[in-house]
Amino acid sequence: MLPREVLERAAAEMLDANGTGQSVMEMSHRSADFPPIIENAERLLRELLAIPSNYRVLFMQGGAMLQFAMAPINLAGAADGGRRTASYVDTGIWASKAIDEARKYVDVRVVASSKDKNYSYIPAAPKPQADDAFYYICYNNTIFGTKWQGAPDTGDVPLVADVSSCIASEPLDVSRFGLLFAGAQKNLGPAGCTVVIIRDDLIGGAPDWTPAMLRYDVCAKEKSMFNTPPCYCIYMMGLVLEWIKGLGGLEAMAERNRAKAALLYDCLDASRLFRAPVEKGCRSLMNVPFVVTEADGERRAALEARFLQEAAAAGLVNLAGHRLAGGLRASIYNAMPVDGVKALISFIERFEKDAVRR
Ligand SMILES: Cc1ncc(COP(=O)(O)O)c(C=O)c1O
Repeated sequence: MLPREVLERAAAEMLDANGTGQSVMEMSHRSADFPPIIENAERLLRELLAIPSNYRVLFMQGGAMLQFAMAPINLAGAADGGRRTASYVDTGIWASKAIDEARKYVDVRVVASSKDKNYSYIPAAPKPQADDAFYYICYNNTIFGTKWQGAPDTGDVPLVADVSSCIASEPLDVSRFGLLFAGAQKNLGPAGCTVVIIRDDLIGGAPDWTPAMLRYDVCAKEKSMFNTPPCYCIYMMGLVLEWIKGLGGLEAMAERNRAKAALLYDCLDASRLFRAPVEKGCRSLMNVPFVVTEADGERRAALEARFLQEAAAAGLVNLAGHRLAGGLRASIYNAMPVDGVKALISFIERFEKDAVRR
């Protein structure tokens, strides 16, 4: 979801943004009209996330998945084609995809994994090795609904984190990380832009063979405008960040998200028909997977299918688990109001009563 207020403002400004007589969609990024828009988005992001001055904010394209390649190439790509080493923690599908991509450029050491229990917890993070070029985690695991409860201590080894599905959902100590990245489409705006937050000293190490479009140093030097940036998406991010600021910033956002998540987890923990499989200390505030507790696989699948069908009829959509994980999942990103969560809870309770009766 995007906040309704944001969509209304975007609609009101559609034909005339900032008195320019044109839509942001029509603006040339080289005209005088666009720099204030990208500067506004960066200023708000810096302010809300308390990004230290020795970090650069980059607005890139290619989705979060392009960062699966860019991070290892830029932080550990060897000019002579030799290979360096990096530690990765495997917490599910997005981490695994990052591992597969990184293997093309670095020697990946998978130092911990929660695969043994279907990724329902965050494993203890071993210390990095002396020769690690970086240490990689996926901070919030969108598909399995786990979240790191703080950055692991990696000493001098730069910590890289995929924060696609939790950015701006609660305060995060940016100084604990060397590189953070997030696709915009969960909490920041529409799809099309990837935010990269990178410590100055990690910029500039890309080997010569790196395509210019995949170099952090080029993007930083050109202020995210080496080529045409995703102008409208960056504008929308600015509106979303203003909305977050208006609500009181990330502390207020976190309080709201914790309250929403607690309502839903409490409902699932009290249920006899449904179960939230993620260990309590590792639960995501954004993505809440749940399953029907029914040993008979056929009956379980039938009940989940009926749940999805009846939920959609009641106006509750996008509740299927990820296609690779199955089950059910409620994504309750920043823009989901508490009333949306309450509506889901009422539906779950009604469905359970009916299922028991039938
Ligand atoms: C944690 C995480 N990483 C990466 C991605 C992939 O993002 P993109 O589609 O922007 O490449 C997603 C998408 O859902 C995600 O949740």
